Amino acid sequence: MAAVAPGCTTLTQDQYDHFMEKGYIILHDCFTREQAAYWLKDVWVRLGLNPNDKESWHNPAVPEDPYGVKIHMPAQRTVKVSEFAPKAWGAICDLVGGEEKIVEETKYWRDNFIVNLGHRPTDRAPDIDDPRALENWHCDGDQFTHFLDSPDQGVVMTPIWSDEVKHLGGPTFLAPDSIDIVARFLHDHPEGFKPGSGVFVGRDIAQMCNDFVECVGKVGDVIICHPFMLHSASHNTLRIPRFITNPTVILKEPFRFDLPLEQLSPIERKTIKACGKDGPFKFEIVGERLRFHGQRYKYWNDSHEQELVRLNDYGTADHFIDNAGIIANDYRSAKEIIGR
Ligand SMILES: [Fe+2]
Repeated sequence: MAAVAPGCTTLTQDQYDHFMEKGYIILHDCFTREQAAYWLKDVWVRLGLNPNDKESWHNPAVPEDPYGVKIHMPAQRTVKVSEFAPKAWGAICDLVGGEEKIVEETKYWRDNFIVNLGHRPTDRAPDIDDPRALENWHCDGDQFTHFLDSPDQGVVMTPIWSDEVKHLGGPTFLAPDSIDIVARFLHDHPEGFKPGSGVFVGRDIAQMCNDFVECVGKVGDVIICHPFMLHSASHNTLRIPRFITNPTVILKEPFRFDLPLEQLSPIERKTIKACGKDGPFKFEIVGERLRFHGQRYKYWNDSHEQELVRLNDYGTADHFIDNAGIIANDYRSAKEIIGR
C-alpha cells in the first residue's frame, strides 16, 4: 500500500506530488455504481425527457447552447460526502488543510447534475482538434469577487456519475498550466476581479496554455483541482448521456500565504509555487469581498419547483439523506452561507 504523504490522512506521496506539479488529482472508485444508480434513478423524470427518444432531448432554458443539449439541473437531495465517498472527502480535507476549515453546509454533495446529452441530430458538432478552441474555458465561482486568497472556492471537484465518459463523450477539459497564470494575475491585482467583468477572460487564458487534460473516466471517479484550474466543457458527439456534478467546499477563513510552509495546506503551497515564489509572503486584498447570486440562481429555483411536481407524480419526491437538515433547494449566495 502506498505511503500517505506527511501531514495527510488520505493523499499518497505520489498524489501529493502530482497535485503540487499539476494542480489536480484523479481518484478512482470513490463511490460505487450502485450508489450512483440510486441517485440517478429518477433523473429522466426530473429532466422531463424520454431516455429512449433522442429526438425529444432538448433544453428549453438554453436552446442555442453551443454544446447542444447541456442542462444544469437544480438539487433535490443531499448526502454527506464523508459517508458517501470517504476517500474523496479525505483527499479534499488533506488539500485544504483539515475538515475543521470547511464551512459545515458545504460538506455535502447534491444531485444537481450537469447533463450533457450531446447535439441534436440536426446540429453539427464542430470538429475541435485543439482544446484552445473550446468555447467554455472558465474558472469556477460566478458568485464572488475573486482574490488570490478567496475562501469561497476551496477546490474544484468533478464526481463522475455516468457509467463511462469517453473521448468525444463530453469530458471536461483541464488546463493545468493555467493555475500559474491565474495566480500571478491575482497576486498582481489585490483588488481582485469580478467574474463576467471582461477583465480576465477564460478563453484568452486558454490561448496561453500548452498543457491540456481530457477528463475521461468512469462512475465513481472524482477529479479534484486547485481552485484556479481553468476548465471547459466539451462536445458530446457520441450522444451518450453524461452526468457529472461540480460541488465545491467553502472555507471559513481566506487562504494564508504568510506562515511557514509546513503550517500551510497543499493548496496554499501550490498557490505560492504558482505565484513564482520560493516561500511564504504577505498578501492583503484591496477592497471588499463581494458575494452575489450566481447566474443560474433564478433558473435553478424555477426548475426545482417544476422537477418537484414531476417527482411527486412519479412518487419519489423524497430525500435520500438530509443529515444537516439542509433545505435541498439551497441556492443561497456564498455571503449568506459564510455569514459575512
Ligand atoms: Fe466550471
